[in-house]
Amino acid sequence: MDKLNLRRELLSARASLTPEQRRANAAKVRETLLDQPWAQMAGLVACYWSIGTEPETHGLVFALWKHGATVLLPVLCEDDDLDWAVYDGPDTLAPGRFGLMEPVDTRRGPDAIRTAALVIVPALAVDRLSGVRLGRGGGSYDRALARVGPNVPTVALLHEGELIDGVPADPHDQRVRWAISPGGLTSLM
Ligand SMILES: Nc1ncnc2c1ncn2[C@@H]1O[C@H](COP(=O)(O)OP(=O)(O)OP(=O)(O)O)[C@@H](O)[C@H]1O
Ligand SMILES: [Mg+2]
Repeated sequence: MDKLNLRRELLSARASLTPEQRRANAAKVRETLLDQPWAQMAGLVACYWSIGTEPETHGLVFALWKHGATVLLPVLCEDDDLDWAVYDGPDTLAPGRFGLMEPVDTRRGPDAIRTAALVIVPALAVDRLSGVRLGRGGGSYDRALARVGPNVPTVALLHEGELIDGVPADPHDQRVRWAISPGGLTSLM
């Protein structure tokens, strides 16, 4: 299946999840992530502030911040690349493009992600064998993940059924090292 049709199918499955299912999924994903020593040790974490039917991260971002990590959240640039700014609590976000909530803090530049010790990204699907990630189609995370060093854990958060075979991959498509779904953690690559 091509990317366009696969995205359509995955988004329609997401739309059928109830708010209760989404909340329960978010709690399981958050617990799984916070159980990992490599997540607990990370002082600087790049994450995302979920919108719509994306695997929910608000509680996760808050928990990381409460535990003392510095959390970078993306700021979407005009060219769809990602700049980064520090999350400093629930009152420090303001709406940006496409209704995305973005930190009001100083922008650290697209290269700020290079300094993260843990990178948590959204995905519509991840390939079970290769770890190739399918996003929403902006190429934003392909650019961001290309800046991340090989030893930094990269994690995609998924709903059930989104770790699949045969994710279409172009040469620019980036992989992730881990996927977390409500069913647990999967090591990739
Ligand atoms: N490193 C890059 N520099 C410039 N453009 C890029 C880069 N990587 C990908 N793109 C462009 O982004 C567009 C969308 O790519 P793709 O369909 O893979 O998005 P995606 O992975 O689903 O989105 P996202 O990364 O935002 O989640 C493509 O036209 C691609 O050429
Ligand atoms: Mg891509």
